[in-house]
Amino acid sequence: MTTAPTRHLLVVDDQAQVPRLIAALLGEGYRVDGAASAASALAVLEDRLFDVVLTDLAMTDIDGIELIRRARRRDPDTPFVVFTAQASVESAVAAMREGAFDYLRKTASSSELRAAVDRAIQHGSLSREVRRLRSEVERARGTSDVIGQSRIMRDLMSLVERVAPSDASVLILGESGTGKELLARTIHRMSHRRDGPFVAFDCSALAPSLLESELFGHEKGAFTGAGRARRGLFREASGGTLFLDEIGDIAPEVQNKLLRVLQEREIKPVGGDSFVKIDVRVLAATNKDLRSLVARGSFREDLFFRLAVVPIHVPPLRERREDIPLLSAHLLSRRRAPGHDKRWPTRLSSGALAKLASYPWPGNIRELENVLWRAAILSTGDEIVEQDLPALETRGESRALLLAGLPAQGKAPGRKLKEIVEDAVRAVERQAIRDALIQCGGSPTRAARLLCISRASIYNKMKEHGIVG
Ligand SMILES: Nc1ncnc2c1ncn2[C@@H]1O[C@H](COP(=O)(O)OP(=O)(O)OP(=O)(O)O)[C@@H](O)[C@H]1O
Ligand SMILES: [Mg+2]
Repeated sequence: MTTAPTRHLLVVDDQAQVPRLIAALLGEGYRVDGAASAASALAVLEDRLFDVVLTDLAMTDIDGIELIRRARRRDPDTPFVVFTAQASVESAVAAMREGAFDYLRKTASSSELRAAVDRAIQHGSLSREVRRLRSEVERARGTSDVIGQSRIMRDLMSLVERVAPSDASVLILGESGTGKELLARTIHRMSHRRDGPFVAFDCSALAPSLLESELFGHEKGAFTGAGRARRGLFREASGGTLFLDEIGDIAPEVQNKLLRVLQEREIKPVGGDSFVKIDVRVLAATNKDLRSLVARGSFREDLFFRLAVVPIHVPPLRERREDIPLLSAHLLSRRRAPGHDKRWPTRLSSGALAKLASYPWPGNIRELENVLWRAAILSTGDEIVEQDLPALETRGESRALLLAGLPAQGKAPGRKLKEIVEDAVRAVERQAIRDALIQCGGSPTRAARLLCISRASIYNKMKEHGIVG
C-alpha cells in the first residue's frame, strides 16, 4: 500500500500558537510551517512552494487580503484559505475577490478544516497541471516560433526583445494572417509574466453590452440571464497578459470603459459597486488602419495612445519574400500529421519556390500555410513540385489597376464606359470572394459571413465566377 505524500501548509497568523493548533487539528499527513506576519510569509513564499496557505485576515503589518494579492501575483497557483475569527461576509467576499479559494472560521472543527485544506490542495494541483499542459500544447503547436531571417523581420524581433520585458502596452498592426497573434504570444513568453496566463480575446465577436461583461465581469443578477457572477477576462488574465484582438472593432461605450481601466488599473464588474485592482499587461492587435479611425472620430485618440505605447507593424509577406523558403519548411514540418499513411514532403523544388515567391499573398502566412498543406496532401514524393501547387494568380504590385479592369481597356479601345465599369465591378467581386475564401481556409460559409452575404449568394457567386470551392 502506498502512503499519501505529506501535504505542506504555511499558516500565517500573528498569534504564535495558531500554527501549532492547526497542526494538532489536522493530525498526521500534514506538515505545518508558521509565519508570524504577512511580510515574513511573503519572504518564505519567495523561497519555497507550499501546497496551501492558511491566513488570518487582521494582522498588524500587511493584512491578509493584501498578502493574497501580492503572493498570487508571483504564484497564481498556490491556493489560499482565509482562516479568521472575524466572521464578516464583506471580508470573506474581499478575500475571494483577490483569489482566495475558501474561507473558514477559526471555530471550524478538525474535519471541516481537513476537508477545506484538502479541497484547496486538489484545486492548486489541478491549476498547476492545467498550466503545464497549456504550455506543452503551446510548444507542440509551435506557436512560439517566429520564423524570419529577412532584414525587416530581424529588426522587428529586436524591437520585440526590447519591449517584451517591460509592462508597456503594445499595439500590433498588420494585415490579416501576418502573425499578429503569434507575436503577442511571443511577447508574453519573453516577459516576466510568462508563467502567468495568456488570455486572447477577439473583440469583434460580441455585442457591446456582452463585451463589457466579458472583459470586466459581472455580479450575479447584473442583467437578465446573468444567473452567476463572472470574473471577466481582466481578472482571468491576472498576473499575465490579456491580448485584445480586433481592437479596431470595439464600440465607443466600451472604448470609454477600457480607457478608464487602463488609466486607473482597476475594474468595476457590471452591476458591482466597488472597484477591483488588476495586474494585467494589455496587448492589442488590429488589421484596420487605427489612425484613420481616430481621424474619422470612430476610435478615441487617448485610447489609441494608451494602447500604442509601443506600436509594432508586422509587414505583409510580400515585403519579405526572402523568408518564404524558411517559412515554408517550418510550416510543412509543423503540419506533418503523426501517423499520416504516406510520406509527408518537407522540401520544395526550386520551381515550386519560385512560384511561391512571385505571388503577392493577400492572405499572408495563413494563406501560405493553406496552400502548402493542400500541396503536401496532393504530392506524391518527398518534395513539393510546381505542379502540386494550385494556380496562383500573379497579380503584380499594381493590383488595384488590374482589379479595376484598366489593362483590358488597351486591348479593346472604344468600349463603352458602362461596360468598363461592369467588368471592373465583376473583377473586384471575384477577387473579394477569392480573398475571403483564402482568409477563411476555403470555407464558403465563413467567407459568406465575412462578406455579409448569405450562404446561397456565395455559392451562386462562386459558380458565376468559376471559383471552385
Ligand atoms: N513569422 C512566423 N513564423 C512562423 N509562423 C508564423 C509566422 N507568422 C505567422 N505564422 C503562422 O501563420 C498563422 C497566422 O498567424 P496569426 O494567427 O498570428 O496571424 P494574425 O495576424 O493574427 O491573423 P488575423 O489578422 O487573421 O487574425 C499561424 O498559424 C501562425 O503560427
Ligand atoms: Mg489574429
